[in-house]
Parts: sequence; C-alpha cells; structure tokens
Amino acid sequence: MNFDRHRRLRQSGFMRDMVRETKLSKDDLIYPIFVVEKPDVKQEVSSMKGVYQISLNLLKEELDEVVALGIKSVIFFGIPNDKDAEGTGAYHDHGIVQEACRLSKEHYPELLVILDTCLCEYTDHGHCGLIDPVTKDVDNDSTLPLLVQTAVSQAKAGADIIAPSNMMDGFVTEIRRGLDSAGYAHIPIMSYGIKYASKFYGPFRDAAESTPSFGDRRTYQMDPANRLEALRELESDTLEGADMMIVKPALSYLDIIRDVRNNSNMPIVAYNVSGEYAMTRNAIDQGLVDEEVIAEQMISMKRAGADMIITYFAKDLAEKINKGE
Ligand code: PBG
Ligand code: ZN
Repeated sequence: MNFDRHRRLRQSGFMRDMVRETKLSKDDLIYPIFVVEKPDVKQEVSSMKGVYQISLNLLKEELDEVVALGIKSVIFFGIPNDKDAEGTGAYHDHGIVQEACRLSKEHYPELLVILDTCLCEYTDHGHCGLIDPVTKDVDNDSTLPLLVQTAVSQAKAGADIIAPSNMMDGFVTEIRRGLDSAGYAHIPIMSYGIKYASKFYGPFRDAAESTPSFGDRRTYQMDPANRLEALRELESDTLEGADMMIVKPALSYLDIIRDVRNNSNMPIVAYNVSGEYAMTRNAIDQGLVDEEVIAEQMISMKRAGADMIITYFAKDLAEKINKGE
C-alpha cells in the first residue's frame, strides 16, 4: 500500500488554516459608491439590492460606515444632473465625483479615493467618448484630451488613484503625460485596459444611468472570446506606464486574471462587476445558495492571481472578516 494521504493536511481547522494558500483581507477590498448630484437622495438600485445612489449631502453617513468597517479604499461613480454630447460634467472642476472626493478627503483623509476616468456617465448618448458624426462610432483621438482633462480635474480634487475605464487606445500615455505636466507625477494609474464588452455591466448602467442610447461598446471594449488580445492590452498599458491593471469582469474571466498574473509583475485588480453581484445576491436572497459563496467567489479571484478586488460585496465581506468568520 503506497498512496498519497492528502487528507493528513485536512484533518483539523487549525491544520487547514496553516496550509491555506490564499487569503482574503480587508486590505484587498475596494468599495464602489454611486454619487448623485441631486440632493437628498438615498435610493436603492432596483437591480442591485443593497447598493444605493447617494447624494453628496448623505455621503458622509455612507463613508462613516465604510471606514468603521475597516475598508480602506473606495471608487466613486457620478450621476450628474445634466448630460451633454461632450460629457462636460466629467471634467468640470466641481463635477460630482470631484466634489465627492473633496468631501471624503475632508472627513477621512486616509481613505484611498479612486476615481473612474470615463465620459459615459456624463454623455447624453451614453458612450465613453465623442461620437464621430459620420461613422457614429466613438472617435478615439478627439476623446483623449477630454480624458486627460477629466483625470487632471480628479487629481486636483484630491484623488489618490486615477482609474481610466474608457478603452480608448493610448489613454494611459496621454493621461500619464497630462498628470505629470500638471504636477501629479506621483498619482498612480490603475488601468482598466483589460475590459470586455460584457453583458454583466447591465445593473451598473441602471445605477449609473449610462446605457448607450444607440449601438453598443464593442468597437472599444474587448471581445469576450479573446485571450491573446488581453495580453496585447497588458503589454501596451505596461509600456504606456500603467501602475496597476484591472481585469473586468472577474468571474467569467478568471483565466485572464491568471494570464495577466503570469505575464506581469504589476498589482492586479479584479473587478467583480454589477451583474456578478446581482446574480449572487439574488441567489442568496432566494435561498438557492448559502452566503458563503460570496467569500468563495472572492477567493477564486485571488487564487487566479488578483491582489485586490473591486466589489459591491465589500461591506458584507468586511463585516464577516471583523467577526472572525
Ligand atoms: C464606465 C464603467 C462601467 C463599469 C465601470 N466603469 C460600465 C460600462 O463600461 O458600461 C461597469 C462596472 C460594473 O458593472 O459593476 N466605463
Ligand atoms: Zn465608460
């Protein structure tokens, strides 16, 4: 008789704790918050139970909760009162996320603020850049200066990290250059360079009111069928000076997270997107699966190679970690 006794290392809780390869910590969590320009709103997003659109005047309460739970980082998304074809609300010095950032910095200077650099929440057509009047497609190069302006206004408002999500070619180069020349050479870029044209963003678009009014995002976001393309995006963003790389969505793209891990030494962020949240939350609420699946999903992202996770479950997870569960 000579066979491996794998069960030796599984025989007790302490033994399993000792040999566990992957752990989830509160340090890994980034919590997304939707901030509305209209006052006095705290409105649950219908497709995302437990996630709210919150006005600036009610934001401090939300931040109090986040900080008390020990979450160290948030990402703000803005819902402006007015939208236009050029998305001017995105790069207004007193735009909604700029003001959310100032408020956060005033009360909690240490809480890391990440701002998403994109135009889709601010354009009346809902696309991530300027529309070419002839082709009706998003125009890459005329969009870039607006993204630079957005990033600089975000840095000026005190953002700790700039996270461009628009998927225009060259956005990291241009934003890096723009930040450097405006005196923000110390501000890191967390690039959403590996972002798939996914149907898992549906609930986010409800929350951010950013569904495109025509067409889709497939000429700028990646084809879900492609893997090598992710490595090309990684390569160019690395050369362009990205400091961290986001892979998005997360759960259906764990192979991509692993590929990035094996091909880069950059910190990797998994974006556990709105549709993933909604599916899991609904399944738990309906009693179909135990809520432990949340932690299991997070561990799968870390096991795939992610260092950090942007997740709407951050508060639930922090609470669990605090209870020692
Ligand atoms: C903006 C942006 C999107 C998400 C994050 N930033 C939506 C999109 O591309 O339509 C999606 C996040 C989520 O689904 O949770 N470009
Ligand atoms: Zn966008």
